[in-house]
Amino acid sequence: MSDEHGPLHVQTPLHASAEPYSDETLAALRQDAQEIIGRYPQKRSALLPMLHLIQSVDGYVTGRGVQFCAEQLDLTEAEVSGVATFYTQYKRHPNGDYTVGVCTNTLCAVMGGDLIWDTVSEHLGIGHDETTDDGKVTLERIECNAACDYAPVVMANWEFFDHQTPESTVQLVDDLRAGREVRPTRGAASVCGFKQMSRVLAGFTDGRADEGVGAGAASLQGLRIASGEQQFTRTPAAAEPAAEEPKEQQS
Ligand code: FES
Repeated sequence: MSDEHGPLHVQTPLHASAEPYSDETLAALRQDAQEIIGRYPQKRSALLPMLHLIQSVDGYVTGRGVQFCAEQLDLTEAEVSGVATFYTQYKRHPNGDYTVGVCTNTLCAVMGGDLIWDTVSEHLGIGHDETTDDGKVTLERIECNAACDYAPVVMANWEFFDHQTPESTVQLVDDLRAGREVRPTRGAASVCGFKQMSRVLAGFTDGRADEGVGAGAASLQGLRIASGEQQFTRTPAAAEPAAEEPKEQQS
């Protein structure tokens, strides 16, 4: 990011990596790790949810978290780090309470995602993978979230905000920073914090999975057409392409 918006990454506080976990935290982590590992025939397969577990405690993948995963899964720290740096959902520096992702993949981009990104980035004064000074919002450009039928889409801690505009997204980040409740368009009734969301991704339910609307009407319509329950009909505009301009006669 340019100098006007500060450094690309907030420096990792050394204490979070260098200080060992307290006995109490370590005991809880070990208990959760055993539950996660028990879901898989091979220990090493548990690494992805284990990294989410670390984020649910530390707020990002700390050095001590890497060490803990390696010990629990009989891996080297290099192997754990190799995975943690491959996937963008794993943070290597402190993350905000809310990850706000603006989809700038092709469809969302042309439907307004690029404009939303420019507006929100300027409003917050931060760029991709940067966090506001109050530690509330980390802003990300994100790839397609399989919600193209609701483009342009914005995610807050992976909850959907459909059909967004620059104004609605600015309102969203202002509400999140002010601690006001926001309501996703589909799915859970509210947006939880980054650590709680990370614990859910580690496989520990918070009881909110069945809240709200799951698949929306636009997504279900495609399924009905695919199953033959509904006929595919083109809209008049799509069925009747505009008449071509008459070509000039070649002499
Ligand atoms: S392009 Fe944005 S959700 Fe698919």
